[in-house]
Amino acid sequence: MRTRIAGTGKAVPDKVLTNDDLSKMVATSDAWIRERTGIGERRILEEGKSTSDLAAEAGRKACQSAEIDPKELDCIIVATISPDMPMPAVAVTVQQKIGAGTCAAFDLSAACAGFIYGMSIADSFIKNGQFKKVLVIGVEILSRVVDWTDRNTCVLFGDGAGAAVFVPTAAGDQRGILSTHLFADGAGMKYLNIPGGGSIEPPSVKSVEAGRHFVKMEGKQVFTNAVKNLSSAAKVALEANGKTTADVDWFVAHQANLRIIEAVAERVQIPLAKFYLNIHKYGNTSSASIPIALDEALREGKIKPGELVLMAALGAGLSWGSALVTI
Ligand code: UT7
Repeated sequence: MRTRIAGTGKAVPDKVLTNDDLSKMVATSDAWIRERTGIGERRILEEGKSTSDLAAEAGRKACQSAEIDPKELDCIIVATISPDMPMPAVAVTVQQKIGAGTCAAFDLSAACAGFIYGMSIADSFIKNGQFKKVLVIGVEILSRVVDWTDRNTCVLFGDGAGAAVFVPTAAGDQRGILSTHLFADGAGMKYLNIPGGGSIEPPSVKSVEAGRHFVKMEGKQVFTNAVKNLSSAAKVALEANGKTTADVDWFVAHQANLRIIEAVAERVQIPLAKFYLNIHKYGNTSSASIPIALDEALREGKIKPGELVLMAALGAGLSWGSALVTI
């Protein structure tokens, strides 16, 4: 028995922030952003709406496409580093908003690798028989945690949510998750973090004035580690399943920077044409990037049933992982 993806969904805000819009806010240009990142525009959530609103919309759509009633869900996992509030979990608000029953619901924090971590947990729950229908959502409202005066970071990120419902396969069904591989190296925490707001630096007037609640990033360090670790995680996934790069139909990589994806394509020797790309539309949506890409690729009919899809993501932690899935 395997765990398969029964349905997917996504939700992105209507408001588009273009590179030209950004060039009026900080010293940047459309040409720089496109050339250095591949990003053309990103979505920004309107005031008055929150993380759980987008998460619930994506989750509802995933249930619809899986043809299940939210009441049938056994577990809701929300991967996010930009929750509605420090507690309780976004997952319990999603539970209320989509009309699920009193199922298990919790958040997980693995930054951009969050959806791969969530998929791995869902796979374990289903394989050990504890749950049969698990909704995993990756959601971020990064527009509320980026410093809109810092051109090094504010041009990169966007808001969005993606979701998938995982269920057990029936006997003889060849679809499903072949493997997941998860990694982390806390030595890299200094390269990407939000230093304020936790127990080390609780919120204070001083911490707000010093901008300690915004994303801080050493871009070059993250870039180098991303290329190295995404490539190794992709190779581990293939080796573990006796597959070669030629067997891969699609590579759905975390959409952080087109140059990272190009470098990974080169290292693992998988043509760029096999990578599903939507970074130009949404920027880096962290944990939401893989499920949004997956949902779009499926709905556009690019990824077809029976195809082999490799996924890999890396983000703050540093945390990273890969998954190999027959759709
Ligand atoms: O999801 C995981 C999290 N994040 C990532 O994966 C991001 C990984 N890192 C990156 O994508 C890249 O490192 C960046 C896109 C953030 C930066 O690209 P880079 O090629 O590493 O540029 P850089 O940081 O070396 O900056 C080159 C120059 C600098 O100017 P000087 O010092 O050479 O005069 C920057 O100040 O570009 C300047 N710069 C900008 N110029 C125009 C930095 N940001 C901008 C900007 N517009 N937005």
